[in-house]
Amino acid sequence: MGEKTFYVTTPIYYPSGKLHIGHALTTTMADTLARYKRLRGYDVYFLTGSDEHGQKIQRKAQEANLPPIKYVDQLVASFKGLWQRLNISNNDFIRTTEQRHKQVVQKLLQKIYDQGDIYKSSYEGWYCTPCETFWTERQLEDGNCPDCGRPVELVKEESYFFRMSKYADRLLQYIKDNPEFIQPISRRNEMISFIESGLEDLCISRTTFDWGIPVPMDPKHVVYVWFDALTNYISALGYGTEEDHLFHKYWPSAVHLVGKDIVRFHTVIWPIILMAAGIDPPRQVFGHGWLLVDGGKMSKSKGNVIDPIGLIERYGADAFRYSLLREMPYGADGYYNEEVLVNRLNTDLANDFGNLLSRTTAMIKKFNGGEIIAPTEQEEIDNELINMSKETQEQLDSALNNFEFSRALASIWRFINRANKYIEETAPWTLAKDTNKKARLQTVLYNMAESIRHATIMVSPFMPGVPVRVWEQLGITDVPSAHTWESIAEWGGIPAGTKINRGSPLFPRIDIKEQEGGSQVTETKNNKTDAKHENEINKEQISKEEQISIEEFSRIRLRLAKVLSAEKVANADKLLKLEVKIGDEKRTIVAGIAQHYQPEELIGKKVVVVANLKPAKLRGIVSEGMILAAVDGGSLSLISPERDNVNDGATVR
Ligand code: MSP
Repeated sequence: MGEKTFYVTTPIYYPSGKLHIGHALTTTMADTLARYKRLRGYDVYFLTGSDEHGQKIQRKAQEANLPPIKYVDQLVASFKGLWQRLNISNNDFIRTTEQRHKQVVQKLLQKIYDQGDIYKSSYEGWYCTPCETFWTERQLEDGNCPDCGRPVELVKEESYFFRMSKYADRLLQYIKDNPEFIQPISRRNEMISFIESGLEDLCISRTTFDWGIPVPMDPKHVVYVWFDALTNYISALGYGTEEDHLFHKYWPSAVHLVGKDIVRFHTVIWPIILMAAGIDPPRQVFGHGWLLVDGGKMSKSKGNVIDPIGLIERYGADAFRYSLLREMPYGADGYYNEEVLVNRLNTDLANDFGNLLSRTTAMIKKFNGGEIIAPTEQEEIDNELINMSKETQEQLDSALNNFEFSRALASIWRFINRANKYIEETAPWTLAKDTNKKARLQTVLYNMAESIRHATIMVSPFMPGVPVRVWEQLGITDVPSAHTWESIAEWGGIPAGTKINRGSPLFPRIDIKEQEGGSQVTETKNNKTDAKHENEINKEQISKEEQISIEEFSRIRLRLAKVLSAEKVANADKLLKLEVKIGDEKRTIVAGIAQHYQPEELIGKKVVVVANLKPAKLRGIVSEGMILAAVDGGSLSLISPERDNVNDGATVR
């Protein structure tokens, strides 16, 4: 293994139905890591594939009246199509029905058999067909599969067994000696207790169906599907064949990304198979949580399975990838629906990032005739921005090495918003009015463009479609040296004299209009955003009379309040009457938000209240304060604390 090799895998998915957004999540995580490591100069190998054998797939093929291979062929084609649409950069796609895979499974099994770790016995146990898993009587929950809760079948047959128990102590030692091996730590602890409670030998063959790889020494048996499936991670590298250079290059630098449902297979069965065969275990297994949707877990019977293709078509692969990774909390379950995606698209992508590009190119065009001019007059505030890029790069690295995708994105967005704030602070539109400030103006405009370049390189592993479009607008498509990770170690990668090309918004805003029987999605007209930038460019410095002092501001008492109850005000379609709690005090507030919020959804929410506003009577009710909301055209959003560590009564300042 070379110093800088990185081998990343996804589970190989069952072609028993179309893939959904949960599968897309794991694959997007793997792709992001693969792209990030490539950017950092690693020699990366990224593998995904399909797990095509087993009783469940054989039954599905029968139901569809197709030979199993024809049945899986169709689905595998749809998997490959999805990964293409999602911009997945896998180096290989392994199918367990391929000869290159089958031969390795057979060799591995034969090897372990020859050394005496596989023996024949008879098996009686409970089998869950959908999970392809055997369970002992004591593992069942209410007589059903402990993983999926579905009924199990009693199976009695002659089988081959793998002496897993023999390796339990070695595995435990390995897990204890390598704290990095199982991530996150909570899953590592679960696995340690699982192994400590005792490992049984594993049944690794079946005779009740034949859609599988024949056991080499006894071909009336087929190999148990998990033994078959796990081996994909090394069969794709040519392990045990004459063409094994990939294996020597990339194993054991493997990082297996899996959902929490299959951590046990990857951290117990798989390392033991490898130990028995004299192969090192993979470097790491990361088990992420479930992506939950309306109605909980996705399932066909609940009819809540979300197809990623529709979302990619409507919003683009980048926005879809971003929202998946941003919403998924580290190591825990996450919740997802289309509204979540649209909110992320409108706020983080369109407002924060897209507008940064749009404002910057608009100002370079207006004030500099479209040319990025060398910076000559740096000020302290510039260093703050420049240093923040460096810090963000470090945070990104540590977050991604820990599989904290959402944290990684959050730090990039802090940088993007720092750049937006830099524009407010330096006010280029004011500098432009003073001919003595020309050099400073050009420096500010340069820094704005350069911060976009840095952010673009940092987001590129998450949203691989972004760089091409940003480079085009910044006019640096033909400057490959400004596209690399190394180039953002320094500030100043955009060559002076570069000509920008103003283009369409990076992420057009989406309006969801509630309609009877569903929601309609429309792209907001771009001229709205453009008009905003024009205003900004032309805006006068706020007149002296309008400015207030800090003392004046501090006279306004802003407090956090918790909504205890909410109801509509009779005969007033815009008003809600709220009872709120501000520390020990209760108050009644009438707010004009009835067209934006249902009373029920407000209960328990923390909001910001102007606490020293003179009481006013509205529709006969005395309102003792005002609730703050952000208003943008027809949209309204109450202001709530971003974290949960502040209680009602807290001061807002
Ligand atoms: N074929 C086995 C894996 C063999 S790997 C050697 C398998 N396939 S699967 O098609 O059922 O895919 C399971 C994987 O899909 C999960 O481990 C997880 O990575 C992903 N997900 C499926 N549903 C998911 C969610 N609802 N949420 C998040 N990930 C989910 O198991």
